[in-house]
Amino acid sequence: MTTAPYKGFNMSVIVKCEHLTKSYGDLIAVNDVSFRVEEGEIFGLVGPNGAGKTTLIEMIEGLRTPDSGLIKALGLDPTKQGDELKERIGVLLQTTSIQPDIKVKEALRLFASFYQRAPDNAEELLHTLSLEDKADSRFKKLSGGLKQRVAIALALVNDPEILFLDELTTGLDPQARRNMWDLVETMRTQGKTIFLTTHYMEEAEKLCDRVGIIDYGKIIALDTPRNLVNNLSAESKVTFNIEDKDVATSKFELVGAVSRVEKVEDGIILYTRDGNVTLQELVRLADKQKFRLSNLRTESPSLDDVFLTLTGREMRE
Ligand SMILES: Nc1ncnc2c1ncn2[C@@H]1O[C@H](COP(=O)(O)OP(=O)(O)O)[C@@H](O)[C@H]1O
Ligand SMILES: [Mg+2]
Repeated sequence: MTTAPYKGFNMSVIVKCEHLTKSYGDLIAVNDVSFRVEEGEIFGLVGPNGAGKTTLIEMIEGLRTPDSGLIKALGLDPTKQGDELKERIGVLLQTTSIQPDIKVKEALRLFASFYQRAPDNAEELLHTLSLEDKADSRFKKLSGGLKQRVAIALALVNDPEILFLDELTTGLDPQARRNMWDLVETMRTQGKTIFLTTHYMEEAEKLCDRVGIIDYGKIIALDTPRNLVNNLSAESKVTFNIEDKDVATSKFELVGAVSRVEKVEDGIILYTRDGNVTLQELVRLADKQKFRLSNLRTESPSLDDVFLTLTGREMRE
């Protein structure tokens, strides 16, 4: 969970979208979307592949033009003040095309030359991204995780106020992914607003202060991960095994807060509105009726469950 300085809703709006729509032929990729991003937060758009995340983020970056609606980023209209906006934002595209033979420090110099005012911060960026010993390496020689870190360094050469990260960790191994999360937190403590997209619910849940869930071009929910999970009354699960395999599952239906009982291959699952109540009553019942519970565990609802509740579909690919 994020612990850093997200202060709530008394900050200033840094990105504002109103009734944003974009189609490709008959396909409505982004459909009447409105939301705001506050200064200093880590905001995430999460949704399955094809949901419209890249289209949406690239309209805000000024790279794609909306059919209708209004965008303000840093007070600027990306469709009319794109050049001005570009100077003040950092962009990690979903697919980075960096010349394979270029050395890391050359790439930094090249990208810095794209900006009118780029601070001379190459050393510092190499340090922040733990790339010091890669300065003279050629891009093509780097691992996926390192390539992604270089791409972020390049997005930071102009010391941007907002950092846009499209599918930051797609294709990275779990360790590299966690490193990226740490890095994003570091960026935020340095005062940057982060706007990211991901199709990993877990990533959105761990990293983001607020999450917009997008599906078929619409934002279907937007809140802190905690509120999303609480308000959509997704259920917790209490799972356990009992020695007597033939025990009737019906006896568990009356355990406090339980809404549904499921018998699965490796045990019994109680779906519950209140994991603590269910746990206490289950233990008491076992004690009274003299059966032994083993492997007892509770699972809190996650954003995956929220997506399922909202759409009736699993989020997983
Ligand atoms: N340039 C394009 N031309 C035509 N269709 C596109 C284009 N870009 C995206 N799409 C379509 O728009 C929908 C949303 O795509 P995209 O914004 O890339 O979603 P996401 O980033 O969530 O995967 C998809 O159905 C995709 O195939
Ligand atoms: Mg995308």
